[in-house]
Amino acid sequence: MFDDILTFIRELYREPEAFIPLHAPVFTGREKEYLCECIDSTFVSSVGQYVGRMEDMITDFTGAAKAVAVVNGTCGLTAALHLAGVEPETLVITQGLTFVATANAISHTGARPVFIDSDADTLGMSPDALRTFLENHDPADGRVSACVPVHIVGHSCRIREICALCAEYGIPVVEDAAEGIGSYFEGQHLGTFGLLGVLSFNGNKTITTGGGGMIITNDEELGIRTRHLTATAKTPHRWEFKHDAIGWNYRMPNINAALGCAQMEKLDDILADKKAVAQAYRAFFAEHADITYIDAPKGCDSNYWLNTALFASKEQRDAFLAESNDKDVMTRPMWTLMSDMDIYQNALSDSLSTARDITDRAINLPSGPRLES
Ligand SMILES: Cc1ncc(COP(=O)(O)O)c(C=O)c1O
Repeated sequence: MFDDILTFIRELYREPEAFIPLHAPVFTGREKEYLCECIDSTFVSSVGQYVGRMEDMITDFTGAAKAVAVVNGTCGLTAALHLAGVEPETLVITQGLTFVATANAISHTGARPVFIDSDADTLGMSPDALRTFLENHDPADGRVSACVPVHIVGHSCRIREICALCAEYGIPVVEDAAEGIGSYFEGQHLGTFGLLGVLSFNGNKTITTGGGGMIITNDEELGIRTRHLTATAKTPHRWEFKHDAIGWNYRMPNINAALGCAQMEKLDDILADKKAVAQAYRAFFAEHADITYIDAPKGCDSNYWLNTALFASKEQRDAFLAESNDKDVMTRPMWTLMSDMDIYQNALSDSLSTARDITDRAINLPSGPRLES
């Protein structure tokens, strides 16, 4: 039924028969050399030259004043929320259409997530829906202590409007830019608009450290505190173990950072190929009357982490999901809305009507770079 789409994807990936993953990492640079260097030097854990080097590469690349390497994006979000001043029993606003890690990070601070609708073009938090919530919010439901907009599939949400609105209400913004390395809004890297931003380097992301993440901020002091708290809050001394706060052991190990440095060296090549893949999907779906390619929104230079298409109906989308996966072309729906899961069924939420329409009809297509490993 969908032979034309599946044939197109197989040609795009020059893969006539074998399984095509949604997004596999490519190791075309000095990954093995750097990993061997870690092993030969014995510095495989939380001390070693690659962690600082990776942080410097990220500040250079994103323009953020400070970058702190952590074990993964989820821990990065939890720490960032704490550093933004989130306290137990407060409310943290995020969007209903996101990966569960966003909501879980909020829950791990002891705060309660609030789920806001998305915009159809960005897939991210709708500033209009956010304003409606803030204007009608009853303080008896809890104080709002932070807002976490999410940049979905590499496309930016309306981040300037969201930051301006939050500033009006005195609410700090922590950007979930887990999917956003290499994406910009009006020339500024995602994750650098709010007080803090968080990137992920999970194996399915644009570049990977195996598992890993990065907290970025333009507030130098806050960056120094982030570094301190995510590395057990140890006070400097040659041998004494004294800690001046209850910190976390969230520091990215050197062995993961080694992989990350090699990946960063190839990021431009990876982004160039991902943009070529996106251009091919854009042209292909332009000829398809009932399937809409969700392109980067206005002002956004996207990394096209995943390419997303919107089918005419949920039934048609489900049929394509079944057929593509049966035929070894990996595709995935968007996430189940947070408020539709038992774990978050009692959370505050607006109607999520746009988010529901997206999650019912959208599909994520194979999007990995085609560089030879
Ligand atoms: C939107 C979003 N937020 C948070 C995360 C969590 O990142 P990690 O897997 O590195 O913990 C991910 C990805 O996995 C994500 O896609």
